[in-house]
Amino acid sequence: MPEELPWWKRTTVYQIYPRSFADSNGDGIGDLPGVIERLDYLAGLGVETLWLSPFYDSPQADFGYDIRDHFGVAPEYGTLDDARRLIDEVHKRGMKIVFDMVLNHTSDQHPWFVASRSAREHDKRDWYIWRDGRGKHGERPPNNWRSMLGNNGWHRDGESGQWYWASFLSFQPDLNYRNPEVKETMLEVVRHWLRQGVDGLRLDIFNAIFKDASFADNPFSLRLLPSAENPHGFFQRNVHTIDHPDTLSFARDLRRTVDAFQDPARFLVGEVFGDPTTLRRYCGAEADGLHLVFLFKTLRMRFAGRGVRALIREIEQAFPEPLTPTYVFGNHDRTRLLQRLDGHQQKAKLFATLQLTVRGVPFIYYGEEIGMEHYEIPLVHGLDPVAVRHRKLPQWLARYLGRAGMLLNRDECRSPMQWHGGTNAGFSAENARPWLALHPRSALTNVDAQERDPASLLHCYQGLLALRRQSRALNAGALELVDDLGLPRAVVAYRRVAQGDVALVVLNFTSREVPLCLEVQDGALLFSNRDASTTPFFGRYSLAPYEGVVVSFPAPEA
Ligand code: NOJ
Repeated sequence: MPEELPWWKRTTVYQIYPRSFADSNGDGIGDLPGVIERLDYLAGLGVETLWLSPFYDSPQADFGYDIRDHFGVAPEYGTLDDARRLIDEVHKRGMKIVFDMVLNHTSDQHPWFVASRSAREHDKRDWYIWRDGRGKHGERPPNNWRSMLGNNGWHRDGESGQWYWASFLSFQPDLNYRNPEVKETMLEVVRHWLRQGVDGLRLDIFNAIFKDASFADNPFSLRLLPSAENPHGFFQRNVHTIDHPDTLSFARDLRRTVDAFQDPARFLVGEVFGDPTTLRRYCGAEADGLHLVFLFKTLRMRFAGRGVRALIREIEQAFPEPLTPTYVFGNHDRTRLLQRLDGHQQKAKLFATLQLTVRGVPFIYYGEEIGMEHYEIPLVHGLDPVAVRHRKLPQWLARYLGRAGMLLNRDECRSPMQWHGGTNAGFSAENARPWLALHPRSALTNVDAQERDPASLLHCYQGLLALRRQSRALNAGALELVDDLGLPRAVVAYRRVAQGDVALVVLNFTSREVPLCLEVQDGALLFSNRDASTTPFFGRYSLAPYEGVVVSFPAPEA
């Protein structure tokens, strides 16, 4: 373990979906001044880095993941001055800030695409991926490639009769990174925001950046539905559309670009899909690619000790130091964590204890810290463009797919933040109409109520985040799974070890009490998710059902 790990390996990240976090002007849409007003809450919670989903100028057809101007701010979120003020205010509180960056595609209303589409001869034509169709009149798509949503990803343009490629939705045409001008322009976009003081970037569908230049058909596969661990599906292996070797080398170009900014160092976290071994390639053979990648397997982690232990082992093997894994339990595309735990608060506390004590960067989705629940909304009422596409599907199928990890109406995990128990939950003015309805339980589940209750999930997160900041073992230590304590297999134990500092974490995934006997007499109980008090630890301890503890030890003799 190196002497001092860079800050981004030790940090904790909190994701803000700006549209749903805090509305400062009563238009029903969350905005940047609203985020600024809530920074003291976030600093008090103890998270160290904030990641904001996109707020750039955009027609909002995919709520910001369709950028029209990479250098501007959408008026509903505020102004460029607000963005600069946000960066400053975050830094003043000793926190870091990460922006979202959609390199793969733009909005179809971006001036580049408007120009590209205007004529085959336009010098921006080659900024996007245009091909002639097959068939006598080019009436069939150029090849069999499917988008990430399973439909044909080629879209025919009436004017020229050619087809353009879109990895996601039709209004999000993919940029052509084989054109050096595109690549350089997008690197400049990255530099621009780093120069503004942004500490890192989250890279949207980074696995799709390069498509194979042969445009050969993707091979057939029997696989129907893709998942976070295996993105192939819809009866094809997407070998020519995702995980292209050129994307991996682009990751190294980006790394060099970002590493040119120091004091402080900046970082990149890539949205990529696959099993941990596949994903590790994005970090580069010499740890010279993306700093971090999302490991979405944790999004589907079941509440079972054996599976959790196996996953930690797999992640540790795939991401040994100098690589750093990530632990993600929710985001703006997925079913909320508490739904997967059937609303069980104590289980949520145990998962939080795991997430904030294991080796790796935890990503906390807004509202997770108070146990905000998933809000099922019928597809026909969905504003999310993915829901709109699937409007005609029966609701039972949407529910089933959502539980299986494919959320068709992402509005369900984007309901407004629940600040207090009053009208509009403090998200928006009382007489405003929030862009999405508040969860009906907001009167019960909210920040105010949990701040007053020392046994709340919020206090559990606060306690863990504070401990993690103080404990070198937890924020920088190596991880060793511990199998010799004579504990049932459903109890997971690991040791975190940094020079001079050792912490033992024991997580009881059973619904029974489990005795814990440790030979060391002078350990101290640093944290329990059962109650936040710190008590001396005298060798014996009885773990309550779903209890997780952190125990400190004196460092072993060198
Ligand atoms: C992944 C983002 O997380 C999602 O919200 C977005 O719709 C797609 N990429 C397209 O940008």
